[in-house]
Amino acid sequence: MITVTRIGKHLGAEISGVDLSQPLDDNTFAQIANAFFDNEVAFFRNQHLTPAQQIAFTRRFGTLEAHVRKESRLGGHDEIFVLSNKLDANGKAIGAQDAGRFWHSDLSYKRQPSMLSALYAVEVPVKDGVALGNTYFASSTAAYAALPEATKQRVDSLRNVHSYREYRLKNYAAQQGEEQRGIRTVQEHAPTPEQLASVPDTEMNVVRVHPVTKRKGLFINEGHTAYLTGISRAESDAELASLYAHIIQPEFIYGHSWRVGDLLMWDNIAVQHKATFDYDPLPRLMYRTTVRGPVVM
Ligand code: OGA
Ligand code: MN
Repeated sequence: MITVTRIGKHLGAEISGVDLSQPLDDNTFAQIANAFFDNEVAFFRNQHLTPAQQIAFTRRFGTLEAHVRKESRLGGHDEIFVLSNKLDANGKAIGAQDAGRFWHSDLSYKRQPSMLSALYAVEVPVKDGVALGNTYFASSTAAYAALPEATKQRVDSLRNVHSYREYRLKNYAAQQGEEQRGIRTVQEHAPTPEQLASVPDTEMNVVRVHPVTKRKGLFINEGHTAYLTGISRAESDAELASLYAHIIQPEFIYGHSWRVGDLLMWDNIAVQHKATFDYDPLPRLMYRTTVRGPVVM
């Protein structure tokens, strides 16, 4: 029997009573999947997972992605995307250390954006007894539901372009700025032309109906959305800024304080998320698996 404890007002639950390193029977898996989609973010504490076990559990939700940033994949396990500020013996970054600077939804710039991501905490920075590097999640379904009726009608017909290219260039510029101000110490590579060319821009509806819960949500995010189509860039910027401000109100947010052994999953269709870079040079190491979602139009 699993126990589900809701934490946030609209999202976020702890699921206990399950050891994810073991194969799960269909009934237990179905209970976990239900609780996950209903709560949009769900976490399991005190897990002991090898990369292969994390892959085996998350693969039950669908096809796993191998990330476009090849240099950040875990050796021997292409399905694991490494997030870390640690360096190898040659001083080279062992993973992506800049993921989540902006509010975003993983791989939202793809024609088949991610359904869900699962992040396993291997090393968590702690200072004076307090965990650093929290991750924040905002429910875009709760945010949509709370919009005034007239706004819902307006956004229902809007479309937006998600751009990996604009995201990586913006992210790189932000990081260079931080480095110049001495905030960060680890050098991230500039995106390669090959990476930029590998993911074309994608146009899609602003409002998405969740394939499982049927909730409507706002599929825009500050990291990947370049602009709304059919209006001027200035109008688009203003509309997006007001929608973003609406989505990230405290009541729609769950903030996770990590412990080693946490496996936390989020629904990339229903929520967007953001990292906190407050721990460098304390080491942080996380392993992510990413489940592919349906095609968006
Ligand atoms: C991710 C991500 C944020 C964090 O893994 O997709 O955005 O806090 N992570 O590590
Ligand atoms: Mn992310």
